[in-house]
Amino acid sequence: MPSLFRKKDINELVSQSSPLKRTLKTWDLTFLGIGAIIGTGIFVLTGKGALTAGPALSVSFLIAAICCGFAGLCYAEFSSIAPVAGSAYTYSYIAFGEIIAFIIGWDLILEYALGAATVSVGWSGYFVNLLDNLGVHIPTVLTAAYGTTPGTTTYFNMPAFIIVIIITWIISMGITQTKRVNDTMVIVKLAVIILFIVCTIWFIKPENWHPFSPFGLYSHHNGINTGIIPAASIVFFSFIGFDSVSSSAEETVNPSKTLPRGILLSLLISTILYIVMTLIMTGVVKYTTFAKYLNAPILAVLANTGQTWLSIIVSIGAILGMTTVILVQLYGQSRISYSMSRDGLFPNFFGHVDQKHQTPFKGTWFFGVITALAGGLINLNILSELVNIGTLTAFILVSAGVLWMRHSHPELHRGFKAPGVPFTPIIAIIFCITLIAGLNWETWLRFVIWLILGLTIYFSYGRSHATINK
Ligand code: ALA
Repeated sequence: MPSLFRKKDINELVSQSSPLKRTLKTWDLTFLGIGAIIGTGIFVLTGKGALTAGPALSVSFLIAAICCGFAGLCYAEFSSIAPVAGSAYTYSYIAFGEIIAFIIGWDLILEYALGAATVSVGWSGYFVNLLDNLGVHIPTVLTAAYGTTPGTTTYFNMPAFIIVIIITWIISMGITQTKRVNDTMVIVKLAVIILFIVCTIWFIKPENWHPFSPFGLYSHHNGINTGIIPAASIVFFSFIGFDSVSSSAEETVNPSKTLPRGILLSLLISTILYIVMTLIMTGVVKYTTFAKYLNAPILAVLANTGQTWLSIIVSIGAILGMTTVILVQLYGQSRISYSMSRDGLFPNFFGHVDQKHQTPFKGTWFFGVITALAGGLINLNILSELVNIGTLTAFILVSAGVLWMRHSHPELHRGFKAPGVPFTPIIAIIFCITLIAGLNWETWLRFVIWLILGLTIYFSYGRSHATINK
């Protein structure tokens, strides 16, 4: 019987030379990170977050940021031991062995594919609003998933479906995001956020911040979680994406120094912007106002300040910004399923590289269509919470991996050593568990079902087909 915990050899992995050119430096990686991080979390989920925590939403962002900071240090150490593409999935194949690697890869599908579906729903909210402002009206039934908006009949989120299909097409054609396109989008995204801050900060009415934390740290009424922690569990989504920086390891100059810097800088910049923005949002309007603006909470602020001209600019910025996030996530998904198929854990279908386009064409389309349907049919909150629980679980495993590797492979060269080990990974794990605890039990249940499905695939297929058998 092969061991469930058989491992890839780290030296073999590290010594495989990469055909890719090393060109990326710290600021390139930081821009890449910001491109993947800032999206639906800040532009959309802040509405639900504000209703859950009140003005203390900024504290929720801080908590989620601390969680990601500690996990980020662990990611950075892991990626500096094995600066090869494949992210947490590859790392855990080295550290823990196959079954844990499979589970992480399976969780990353939640992070990437369902993450892209979540962002597409956020994208759709701003897109529909923008078209409305410009006098173009999409039939309401086609603007959201069934049963999403109380009092309104909706069946399918057509814009979310279509944007995912378009981006899938782009990726399958081999036109991945070039650095120039990403940099431009990130500058637009940052410019729009800074414009928003500069134009609205003057309208803060400090009385809106009272009471600052109406629901305290955590409370549970009528089956609904409220308070700072549950809001942190929701807005954790806003930070997802910083780990994608580590997947550029093979294209990075001096990755062991540059990767951790890129990860931490992109997290730091996003966190500062998020905290300032949420203080402004809950300072300009009473947090309860967001109940009417859940699709595009930023626009509640601009409606209040009367700067409707700005809402068109902000909408365009948000739409472009979320487009890059979808692109990064769908790209990440196609590469994870490709790696898993190359290792024999998924069928060849997903690893098949198309001659003409030099991309994993079939796998890209498979997940693209599933993602598009998820964006069309499922409600934003269900999607985002499932993404969060999957990603938090992956973070827990990566943090535990750092602890384990320090113990089992102390001799390995680490270009970056996370400071404060064993405390850093332990704190990361405690924060991740706290955030998982802030999610609803329905989300836990959905996640357990997802895991059972994954393990069924592993035991019925992956285990016997893994290339490591050879
Ligand atoms: N962090 C990304 C976003 O908020 C996934 O859209």
